[in-house]
Parts: sequence; C-alpha cells; structure tokens
Amino acid sequence: MIISLFTALAQVCPAAAFTCLHAVLPSRRSHLPFPLPELLLTTTGARSGRPHTTPLGYVRDERGRPLVTGSAGGAPHHPAWYHNLLAHPMTEVELGTETFPAVAVPAEGADRDRLFDLVVRAAPGFADDEEKAGRKLPVVALERVEAEGAPAEATNLADKLLQGHAWLRHQLGRVRAEADAYFAGDTGAGLGLQIRQHCLAFCEGLHFHHTGEEMAVFPALEKSHPGLTAALARLRAEHVTVERIRGELEALLGDMAGADRARFRAEVERMTSELDAHLAYEEEQLLPALAAIPWPPVAP
Ligand SMILES: [Fe+2]
Ligand SMILES: [Fe+2]
Repeated sequence: MIISLFTALAQVCPAAAFTCLHAVLPSRRSHLPFPLPELLLTTTGARSGRPHTTPLGYVRDERGRPLVTGSAGGAPHHPAWYHNLLAHPMTEVELGTETFPAVAVPAEGADRDRLFDLVVRAAPGFADDEEKAGRKLPVVALERVEAEGAPAEATNLADKLLQGHAWLRHQLGRVRAEADAYFAGDTGAGLGLQIRQHCLAFCEGLHFHHTGEEMAVFPALEKSHPGLTAALARLRAEHVTVERIRGELEALLGDMAGADRARFRAEVERMTSELDAHLAYEEEQLLPALAAIPWPPVAP
C-alpha cells in the first residue's frame, strides 16, 4: 500500500516517476564490438509495458546529445529497444555516474544520414552492420528532459507538483518549437518523427501526472482540507477537458503521414491555453496545503 501510494505521488512529476519505477532494475554491462563508451538505456516494453535495460555504445553530436544506433548486430530487423521507444518515447539513461530521464528522438532524412556519418567516424563497424542488415540503421538522439524554473530538490509535495508542472510546460513548449521548425522547412503534409516523439512524451507525462493527482493527491486533500472540495471538483473537471484534447493529439500522432497540420496546430494551441489555466489555478489553490506535506512521504 505504501509502495503504491509512493508510486502514485511520484507520478506527479512525470520524469521522476519514470526514474522511480525503474530504480529497482539491476544494471547490465556488456562488451561492445565497437570502440565506443557505453550507456545503459531503459525503455518501456511496447507490448508488455515493462522496463527493459540495454547496454549500448554512444557518440555525442555537436549539441552534446548522446546518439545510439539500432544495429542489432547487423540483423535484418530493428532491435526491440527501438520499437519500445517508438511506443514510449520517455526513457532513462545511465551514463557514467549520472542517471537521467530522456526523450528518445530518432533522426530522419538528411539529419539521420549526417548523424550516421558521425557515428561511423567513431565506430566504422556500424557501416558494415548497415550493409549486412540491408536496412538503414536508426540513429536515436537521447534528449535530456528539462524542467526549468522548478525547485531542484523536492522537500515537500508543493515542490513535487511544481517540478511536474515545469516539466509539462517545458515539454509542451518543445512540441510547439519542433512543429514550428518542421513546418517552416517542409511544405508537405504530415508530422515528423521529432514532433511525434516529443508530443507522445508530453501526452504520456500528462497522463502520469493526472493519474498521480487523482489517485493520491486529491483524495488526501479532500480529507485533510474540506475547504478545498469545490476547487478540487473544478480541477477534476479540467482534467477531463485536458484529457479529451490529449486524446485528439494522440489520434493525430497515430497517422503521421496523413495528419492535418492545421488541426494539429489548433489542438496544440487549445492544449496550451487549457493547460496553462489549469496549472495556474491548481498552483493557486493547492500549493499552500501541499507545502505542509513532506517529500518523500513519511511512512505512518
Ligand atoms: Fe491537475
Ligand atoms: Fe498538476
């Protein structure tokens, strides 16, 4: 019971929830055939929903992002971890002494070819693997999740809520920025993989966040602060509205090639205005009460 409550509360910060859920996994090491430093990539199983950790060689691009390559040893099919990150873009990266959440973004088109050249310069064996595999090897950038403006360390549940909100605001901003950049440079139809991955990560994070609030935070506040009952009812109603827009966005992501860009933009704008208002009201109403609840939770 304590573990399930802890998990629900941790979900208030989507990025932290991912780290929390995977923290119990044992580390795995391997010896790669290529002269590259290693990281451990934890993905969520596309079908099972369970965490999987894979050791992978990486190189950094000019922006400092770790790049991993889906060679599967030159097999004709993409590796399982690649299918997993398409289904669930939020990953966890263990690199040196650091462990951090990251959005996995496969490169496309000319950008993919440029980054693959970068990888091959560091590890020429990947070019042999690509020839042997008879497919273009995916190159995936692991983009660290940012949450600017939030408390670095959470000592109470108000900090935790602010961390979650900062992550959601930042990630939705990334979706808008990726869409602006992609649509400006491409006059065709549909959505790119970068937009898809960032938007899906946002949608999954939002769902985690609301689940944590509805399962743990709101029921606890209803008991301890009866004066917040009306505010909590309004917040629940807003969750329903925001979830509906989330569903619209996820449906558009399901058909990347045929997605209507104008509609995608309109849904993102609608999400931005609804979510901004919701987060601001939630912070105004709940932060004073949540500041009195220590984090991590203390066992009774
Ligand atoms: Fe909320
Ligand atoms: Fe919230």
